[in-house]
Amino acid sequence: MKRTALTLLAIGLIAAPAASLAKPKPAAVDGKAAFAHRCGVCHRDMGMGTLAVSRRMGFGMGPDMVKAWLENRNDLTADYVVSAIRNGVYSMPPLSRVEVSDADAAAIGRYLAKKK
Ligand code: HEC
Repeated sequence: MKRTALTLLAIGLIAAPAASLAKPKPAAVDGKAAFAHRCGVCHRDMGMGTLAVSRRMGFGMGPDMVKAWLENRNDLTADYVVSAIRNGVYSMPPLSRVEVSDADAAAIGRYLAKKK
């Protein structure tokens, strides 16, 4: 009984990495989806990032606040966005690779700089 369990465990340990190798490669990161997932809570409607950017840029708390959405800005470069993520900017804390992977950060940078 004990041996069977050990054998099964051993097979599992050998089989698991093989199974994960067989998985199809994940599709290239969708910057818009990654933004919605990682940044949207603060940088879309009424998020604390939107409120802070709007106040700093003088858009106020009225209907002009949509101009503070990062997705509506046309002055952001991909490098600046990645730097904001990794190093923090103004009152935004840096986000680690656990929170936002390098692939996500790069895709989000390209997405926000898309109008350039
Ligand atoms: C916990 C809330 C929060 C999250 C999550 C967040 N931010 Fe921010 N972000 C802020 C705040 C607050 C500021 C500072 C705004 C200010 O003081 O002007 C800011 C500022 C920024 C700025 C600077 C804007 C400017 O006008 O120069 C960029 C760029 C930015 N964030 C990108 C991102 C990206 C990309 C993500 C997702 C990976 C993200 N942020 C996630 C809260 C957040």
